[in-house]
Amino acid sequence: MQVRLATIDDAEPIREIYNIEVETNTVNFDLRARTSEEQRTWLIDRSGAHAVIVADSGEGLAGFASLSPYRPKPAYNTSVENSIYIARGHQGTGVGSQLLGELTRLSDQHGFHAMFARIVGNHQASINLHAKHGFDLVGVEREVGRKFGRWLDVALMQRLPAGGRSIATEARPATPRT
Ligand SMILES: CC(C)(COP(=O)(O)OP(=O)(O)OC[C@H]1O[C@@H](n2cnc3c(N)ncnc32)[C@H](O)[C@@H]1OP(=O)(O)O)[C@@H](O)C(=O)NCCC(=O)NCCS
Repeated sequence: MQVRLATIDDAEPIREIYNIEVETNTVNFDLRARTSEEQRTWLIDRSGAHAVIVADSGEGLAGFASLSPYRPKPAYNTSVENSIYIARGHQGTGVGSQLLGELTRLSDQHGFHAMFARIVGNHQASINLHAKHGFDLVGVEREVGRKFGRWLDVALMQRLPAGGRSIATEARPATPRT
């Protein structure tokens, strides 16, 4: 399996992998499938520091992963949000781990600091995958999404580069005043 930067020719296979999850699953909060035009624009927007990588089996794409801006206000520019999608026939075979390993390396290399994953509440496969790559659970947003007639929670997971402040340090209670 070759992991490489995406090119514009990957737009349609990426769209196919993505839209299956949009239309059948709550792991994704879009409510309608992406068009070809939207997919191409999405890829072009992520051809610099915000990058897209793909896992190429030689016979097609087995998955993709991306870095996107985290929030629009400028002080957030050092933070990124990742996404990762593995084709149905390749899930559970190590491709997600291969892609996320390369994506965290790229995030560090491109100078980003905090990396976030927003994961639908009880999606244990994705939570475990991110934990394996150094992400900590930093919060849960309750009932922030609605799809297929259900309220959806979002688990927020965060990774800092080596040397970043750990969650354990942050969570320590303040020293009481005397
Ligand atoms: C979630 C997803 C990205 C995981 O990728 P994957 O290629 O299937 O995962 P891998 O085979 O690389 O497994 C890596 C780790 O993920 C976790 N994991 C994967 N599948 C799991 C499952 N069914 N149950 C629990 N943990 C699981 C494990 O920690 C595993 O490590 P291990 O093999 O050492 O136990 C993939 O299943 C997927 O794309 N699903 C549909 C789209 C999606 O949900 N995207 C994420 C949105 S937040």
